[in-house]
Amino acid sequence: MIYYFTGTGNSLAIVRQLQKLRNKQEEGVTAIDYTTPYPRLTDECTEIGFVFPVYGWGLPLVAEDFIRRLPGNTNKRSPYIYVILTCGDDIGCTDKQVRKLFAEKGWNVNAIFSVQMRNTYICLPGFQTDPANLEQQKNEKALTWLRQISQRIEAHEPSSNNDVHPGAFPRMKSYVLRPLFNKFLIHDRHFKVNAKACIACGKCVRICPLHNIQADAIGMPQWLGQCTHCLRCFHACPKHAIEYGLFTQGKSQVKVKL
Ligand SMILES: Cc1cc2nc3c(=O)[nH]c(=O)nc-3n(C[C@H](O)[C@H](O)[C@H](O)COP(=O)(O)O)c2cc1C
Ligand code: SF4
Ligand code: SF4
Repeated sequence: MIYYFTGTGNSLAIVRQLQKLRNKQEEGVTAIDYTTPYPRLTDECTEIGFVFPVYGWGLPLVAEDFIRRLPGNTNKRSPYIYVILTCGDDIGCTDKQVRKLFAEKGWNVNAIFSVQMRNTYICLPGFQTDPANLEQQKNEKALTWLRQISQRIEAHEPSSNNDVHPGAFPRMKSYVLRPLFNKFLIHDRHFKVNAKACIACGKCVRICPLHNIQADAIGMPQWLGQCTHCLRCFHACPKHAIEYGLFTQGKSQVKVKL
């Protein structure tokens, strides 16, 4: 069984590719939200996978919440637990955060891998989506790396520190910048819609993975305060009518692949 969260489809692509590589297309996969029930963890369960993107050098808030809601480990035999973290560049200390969250529930994480994919973060100055050639390069590298990951998971091998890419100054990113990022930038108060461009199509309402958008009386989106900042609404709007704060104007969208 695999639990995952995805904003624009990067992490979902990894889930699908992994299933294909392992010839396990029938395996159950669940997209998590704030209400996803706990997984049923019986002694027969030999393996659980989690695939999450990295947001602000840590887990998306919804993934953090999901792990916090896991039942404590009372199994005689622990299943093999693997976590794949997708990122645009580097993960800081997200792997350490993951291990700590699981350990608080009595679960040992056997393997953590990070996979670099196209960047989806565009809300601050200097952050832009990847040019097509860079996205292509990242995709090719990701597939090669995922083939190795797949074999390692198949063999229930543990991972090592070399299997994740923390980048430069990981502690500063995860323990100093991340709390600021979460406090000031991981919420939906700065979303706004360009009323002239919006055609009230309702797509943003339908596709928000957390059901955090509703349409007002004339069909314009309103954000409801339960956002994990996946930016799916920004990237998926067919009229590019959604902005976040002051710095997204003129930024490109990625194609949302669900
Ligand atoms: C809010 C937000 C924060 C992000 N923070 C990071 C980060 O700290 N490090 C990084 O390498 N990529 C970061 N990214 C890029 C994503 O991790 C990357 O593009 C990921 O594969 C997106 O997967 P998804 O489409 O499944 O959400 C961020 C993206 C978003 C939307
Ligand atoms: S997806 Fe874009 S155009 Fe459609 S309702 Fe939302 S903001 Fe308006
Ligand atoms: S409101 Fe937008 S950014 Fe927030 S969770 Fe929904 S789709 Fe993602």
